[in-house]
Amino acid sequence: MKTITFQLNGEEKRAEVHPGQSLLEVLRETFKITSPKDACAPQGQCGCCLALVDGRPKTSCSVPADKVDGKTVLTLEGVSTEERRLYARAFQVAAGLQCGFCTPGLTLRIKWLTDQERLLTRDEIAKGLDGHLCRCTGYVKIVDAVELIQSAKRGQALPAVVDSGGVGARLAKYQGGELALGDRPFVADIDAPGLLHAAVVLSPHARARVIRVDTSRARAYPGVVAVATARDVPGDRWVGLIYKDWPCFVAEGEEVRAVGDVLAAVAADSPRIAREAAGLVDVEYEPLPPVLDPAEAIRPGAPRVNPKHDNVLSTTRFARGDVEAALAASTHVVTGTWATQRIEHLFLEPEASLAVPLPDGRLHLYTQGQGIFDDRRQVAAVLGEPEDRLFVELVPNGGAFGGKEDMSIQAQTALLARMTGRPVRLVLTREQSIRMHPKRHPITMSYAVGCDAEGRLTAAKVSLLGDSGAYASVGGKVLERAAGHACGPYRVPAVQVEAIAAYTNNPPCGAMRGFGVNQTSFAIEGCIDLLAAKVGIDGWEMRFRNALRVGDTFTTGQVLEKSVGLEKTLLAVKEAYYAARGQGRAVGIACGVKNSGIGNGAIEYGKCRLVVEANGTVVLYAGFTEMGQGLLTILTQCAAEVTGLPPRTFVPRIDGRFELGAGQTTGSRATLLGGRGAVDAARKLRADLDRGSSLADLVGREYAGEIVIDDTTAPGQTKNGKVKTHTSFGWATQVVVLDGSGALDRVIAAHDVGRAINPQQCEAQIEGSVHMGLGYALTEELPCRDGMPVTFKLREIGVLRAQHMPTVEVILVEEPEPEGPFGAKGVGEIGLVPTAGAVAGALHAFDGVRRMRLPMKDSPAARAINVGRIPDAERDRWH
Ligand code: FES
Ligand code: FES
Repeated sequence: MKTITFQLNGEEKRAEVHPGQSLLEVLRETFKITSPKDACAPQGQCGCCLALVDGRPKTSCSVPADKVDGKTVLTLEGVSTEERRLYARAFQVAAGLQCGFCTPGLTLRIKWLTDQERLLTRDEIAKGLDGHLCRCTGYVKIVDAVELIQSAKRGQALPAVVDSGGVGARLAKYQGGELALGDRPFVADIDAPGLLHAAVVLSPHARARVIRVDTSRARAYPGVVAVATARDVPGDRWVGLIYKDWPCFVAEGEEVRAVGDVLAAVAADSPRIAREAAGLVDVEYEPLPPVLDPAEAIRPGAPRVNPKHDNVLSTTRFARGDVEAALAASTHVVTGTWATQRIEHLFLEPEASLAVPLPDGRLHLYTQGQGIFDDRRQVAAVLGEPEDRLFVELVPNGGAFGGKEDMSIQAQTALLARMTGRPVRLVLTREQSIRMHPKRHPITMSYAVGCDAEGRLTAAKVSLLGDSGAYASVGGKVLERAAGHACGPYRVPAVQVEAIAAYTNNPPCGAMRGFGVNQTSFAIEGCIDLLAAKVGIDGWEMRFRNALRVGDTFTTGQVLEKSVGLEKTLLAVKEAYYAARGQGRAVGIACGVKNSGIGNGAIEYGKCRLVVEANGTVVLYAGFTEMGQGLLTILTQCAAEVTGLPPRTFVPRIDGRFELGAGQTTGSRATLLGGRGAVDAARKLRADLDRGSSLADLVGREYAGEIVIDDTTAPGQTKNGKVKTHTSFGWATQVVVLDGSGALDRVIAAHDVGRAINPQQCEAQIEGSVHMGLGYALTEELPCRDGMPVTFKLREIGVLRAQHMPTVEVILVEEPEPEGPFGAKGVGEIGLVPTAGAVAGALHAFDGVRRMRLPMKDSPAARAINVGRIPDAERDRWH
């Protein structure tokens, strides 16, 4: 231990620091300074933990604490009130944040950048932000915010924050100012009296028999309060959203099935002690050969990966028309195999969970999951307790993108709280996070697609094989969705599709923004380009001739009756597409379709309660998760529009006070369903207001909103003689333009959003999706060797930085959805569905190479980007 003295936010501080302790640990744990966040410690690659040390920006996770002895350290907490207001306002005006986990670090960097005398250009700003990662925004609006701050520091007035208006208003994000400054806590920022800190022990093997788990050394470690293993679970150890095939602890005598499997969890007086004690849990394994190739996994005789299910997790098959005859009669046929990679969500906030015993014997579980009522149900089952013994509360999370649908560490946290009778907080490291949560599926896709002499599609025969990894998660549904969207947004009279999800000992794969559709989009868009070349027409014309319109039949057999805005999105990009080609630029184009709502026969709900409070507010309770996408703002706008009350009247809250469970926040459905639930409740409040009551008269009143959608059809089935696979679809066309060197230059993204409840947030969702789609196309991957990711380094994983982003132009098209709130249909996922296909088309136009495998790292566009470079020695095995 060493004593250091330093100036922290203008005050002299002393601290005892351990060897190896980082400045970030001292700030957060010793001084309870929470604006610097831990997203990748000790990598120093995301910028979330930024502090100014002697006036210079430093990633505090990579600065040894003893090195700040005698120095000054500034965090956002020490910035003047006036300056803090400026940053908060600029981020709100520009909509420069979504989940907000990256934002405090960025804000401090921006303070440093804009304190310089020189006015920075947009390119210089983007380069200046290179030390920072944002997974949500695509950086466009962050750079907008920096420009506003620069101007304000030179005396120009900032535009006002929009704090009024209902549907259609560019209302500022709910809690945007607090998020920008790091004032709104995430789970890892919440303290509790007597708090214990937890750490988990994960398997180093993808497949091995567990011979013995010996916790004696860990239990004896000073500061350790409890160690939990499978033996301590009083209820059902197996969890899972669809199949209960995932043990929250692997027991002695069982096999581990993935490198994220949990063997033990330790609760201790500090995070450091918990981590050190976790390293003292002795686990004896008998390593077994892992099953790594999905094609091998589904062969007869392959070792069984999961004891609850054979290796074929799911098979989806459907057909319309005589595909073989239609292909034989086609003027042109293209065939090929496309392949996509496993990628990591890389939400910036790693998984965190807090469980606090309440005086009445219940447990208060703070979770950041994408379905808090599913979390409650599963944790209660693990504890062997009735659900009403758990009060569950969402802490809006720092990004999820599907990766927080499955349980991660909620059950282990709750168990330790029950075992100790004390509050317990468990936060994963970045490496543990990557090892544990499900990824985007690698899918191998074989296609044969035909067309007539004019380019009209005739038939498609499609076979898909996805690697679902060690646990079911929602992998079967991902492949089902991939199958349903296999022909993209095109009219294909004869269709034959088979999709298999296979268990392997790779990290599990499950939900990720786009849910299987990005993969098949990449393949079908490649087929469309190949056919267009054979017909002798360009990509825009080929797509326009085949675009689905009202009255046409979707891949699954659903006849589209409403709200098909694809043609409008094609027309919206037409001029830019031909102008860029006319200038001799390499241009790619792709279209996309993505369902909103789960559909496929699922019964879906939108639920809401409005409760009038004595302080003049109305608490808006809902059941879906805010994860940066802006749900709380959208629900507020819906309620404000219906009631005529100002948006600031509404205080959104997601917790277990009412039974508002509606499943996972997935499938672009929170606006569609949650919005309608809010409208339903708001109409009832409005009726009382219209009868002459004031809010003061209505204090204590509750207004329940609930809508049900129960008319979709399971694959292969009909209802009332109709196929209705999905309630609603989003439609899009994207154009990618390269510069003279083959690097990304410009993306034009035209999207039918039904109705833009908040146009600024719609744009922001699409910009962020395009950013994710470009990374998917060019640089992102998570290859594994023997089931273990070969890298956990953020730069190697390949998420694009601000300086890598091309210009993104978003065009919002509104083709109202009659079943959506005010015509809205959800926009969370479709933003990246067409992107990889459009990039592939642009690259082919540039160098004549047709790329059929992602990421396209062999391309000039990827080579112009300095992330995603995994040393060759680390990547000798793919998928
Ligand atoms: S947490 Fe320090 S740079 Fe990521
Ligand atoms: S807003 Fe940047 S990571 Fe979410």
